[in-house]
Amino acid sequence: KNNNRLIIVSYRLPFSFETASGSTTVKASAGGLVTAMKSLDFSEAREKPVWIGCADFSRRTWEKYQHLVNDDFEFVPVFLERKIQQNFYNGFSNSVLWPLFHYFPTYVDYQERDFVAYQKANETVSETVAAVVQPQDIVWVHDYHFMGLPKLIREKKPEATIGFFLHIPFPSYEILRILPYKVKEYLLTGLLGSDLIGFHTNDYNIHFLQSIQINLGVQHKIWKINYQDRLIQSDSFPVGINYSLYHDAYDNEDVIAEREALKNAYQDTKIIFSVDRLDYTKGVMQRLDALEAFFARYPEWIGRLTFILVVVPSRDEIQKYGERKVMIEQAVGRINGKYGTLIWRPIVYRYGSVPFPQLVALYTACDVALITPIRDGMNLVAKEFVATRKDHQGVLILSEMTGAANELSTALHINPMDENEVADKMKQALEMEPEEQARRIAIMQRRLKDYDVKKWANSFVESLLNMENTQHKDP
Ligand code: UDP
Ligand code: G6P
Repeated sequence: KNNNRLIIVSYRLPFSFETASGSTTVKASAGGLVTAMKSLDFSEAREKPVWIGCADFSRRTWEKYQHLVNDDFEFVPVFLERKIQQNFYNGFSNSVLWPLFHYFPTYVDYQERDFVAYQKANETVSETVAAVVQPQDIVWVHDYHFMGLPKLIREKKPEATIGFFLHIPFPSYEILRILPYKVKEYLLTGLLGSDLIGFHTNDYNIHFLQSIQINLGVQHKIWKINYQDRLIQSDSFPVGINYSLYHDAYDNEDVIAEREALKNAYQDTKIIFSVDRLDYTKGVMQRLDALEAFFARYPEWIGRLTFILVVVPSRDEIQKYGERKVMIEQAVGRINGKYGTLIWRPIVYRYGSVPFPQLVALYTACDVALITPIRDGMNLVAKEFVATRKDHQGVLILSEMTGAANELSTALHINPMDENEVADKMKQALEMEPEEQARRIAIMQRRLKDYDVKKWANSFVESLLNMENTQHKDP
């Protein structure tokens, strides 16, 4: 839409490399950020966008195998020193910011050396950005790994156009109080180096604005912040999905074949499906509690329901993640032992990632999608499920603690803590008339189609360019 080159900066690149029995292949990365950015279409852009991210592979591997990676982007991997990478990613990013911003303060493990590594990593990446950026470029920084980055780029390139988008919740200022003042100051002033700061929801935006007011004494007015003689906009931009990609996939040959295979395998039972990264924020244990409550309350469903539980490996070097895997697997074993028979198991559990056709087959073969996060910035899985249902069938049960719940208004909303409520909604979903399923799905599909990922990116970039113009008009 515009002629500016886009520079995306995120911790995660959309690929990594996997070597098995002597041969190296490219593996797609998981998670909402990567899904959003790689579903954008840059075919009409004048210049290929650049994607700067941290490498979880060696320089040698990159030199040898970069030709295997698709060339939709010009990728610039940053190679951090091993120890820095560890303490930056596993440490400060995923053992302080992630749990804190998802309201798990007791999971926070703050170590001074991890904060030092976080600053170091942000500094190193800012040098890479400064080396790549040209005057007409737009720099779009993503997520909690790089909250210090906008300021560091601004110091090196005062005229740069910089946007920042947070893919996770921004918590109440009360939660931020837990962090030492110097940490809060680093993070908040870091963000204020941007021209535009974006969040998924208005609540997250308000939390941010309150935080800068309370911690830095920085004032704001109608989503505009006046800071160090610059005007900054802070606003909400709920991320969407590539609607037509998911909707049209219903008729894809591979998807049809996979779906038939699933329907065949589970022809005697209804199917409830869920897929998430292995993460304590996703509420998998609450989901399993609810399934148990469901069989206890409605024993007539024993033998007539299969719950397909897919858990995608994530952050497995962190203890809280490893522990979660053990807890889930014990619960699955226990419930299957308690309710299963010699010819039927209530839960089919898979730990691994799923390729796109299989994912869409699961979305479209199931009767109910059960999505129960305790906190989630957005949750794209919920949106993808709804979009794939070209047949207008299927029921979405969705936690009210997700950013997506705002937009997906005709899902059955639940509080994941209330296992009896979830059990009752499962029954309601399994028994819902086809006409009502169609009515609910159609309303949500309209919303997802109108506010797709392209719209999200365009409105973010448009707002950013508007800000940039205002900046130069009113010095
Ligand atoms: N996904 C994936 N690999 C898989 C299964 C799913 O990358 O094996 C995708 C899924 O399609 C969705 C994203 O991962 O686009 C998850 O995004 P969401 O916002 O639901 O949660 P996040 O993982 O970002 O917390
Ligand atoms: C969430 C975060 C992303 C992250 C993704 C996967 O969506 O917001 O920044 O990339 O999870 O997690 P990972 O740690 O594997 O990148």
